[in-house]
Amino acid sequence: MTEMKMPGDLTERDDLERIIRVDHAGEYGAARIYAGQLAVLGRGSKGDLLRHMKEQEQVHLDSFGKLIAQRRIRPTALLPIWHVAGFALGAITAAMGEKAAMACTVAVEEAIDQHYQDQVARLGEDETPLRDTIEKFRLEEVEHRDIGLENGAEQAPAYKLLSGAIRLGCKVAIAVSERV
Ligand SMILES: [Fe+2]
Ligand SMILES: [Fe+2]
Repeated sequence: MTEMKMPGDLTERDDLERIIRVDHAGEYGAARIYAGQLAVLGRGSKGDLLRHMKEQEQVHLDSFGKLIAQRRIRPTALLPIWHVAGFALGAITAAMGEKAAMACTVAVEEAIDQHYQDQVARLGEDETPLRDTIEKFRLEEVEHRDIGLENGAEQAPAYKLLSGAIRLGCKVAIAVSERV
């Protein structure tokens, strides 16, 4: 069934561009967050866990990078900002301690899980491969969240404040990366 389009509505192509642009931006930021955490905690007891998560983020980033190229979508203009902000978020939370790093992971991955759930619900049958890819990645983000929870995220100092601030930051980052 075709929906009636109102002036100002997004076309399907616009919506798809936004989905791929923001997911590419998000996975880029996620890889940078783990890079920042690894710079501080790479030699510590959580190093292997962080490397495992960073490797998965790299796979996510590479597949959205491919989609950006194949479908000729303009990447977000904000990549240089996510490059610095992602790394800084990872490094600063890691410098606060392993538990704060895990709290950062939980907050970010919760936001991404919600974001991917929304997209999976939005994508139609004509985009089944993309929907399956997002769902597969979503399950890995949930795994990352669980790793964070199993490794003391909730015992981080000022957990609620920290995770609330990071979740809010993610929502803002998602909203601007869809458009800019
Ligand atoms: Fe990811
Ligand atoms: Fe993740």
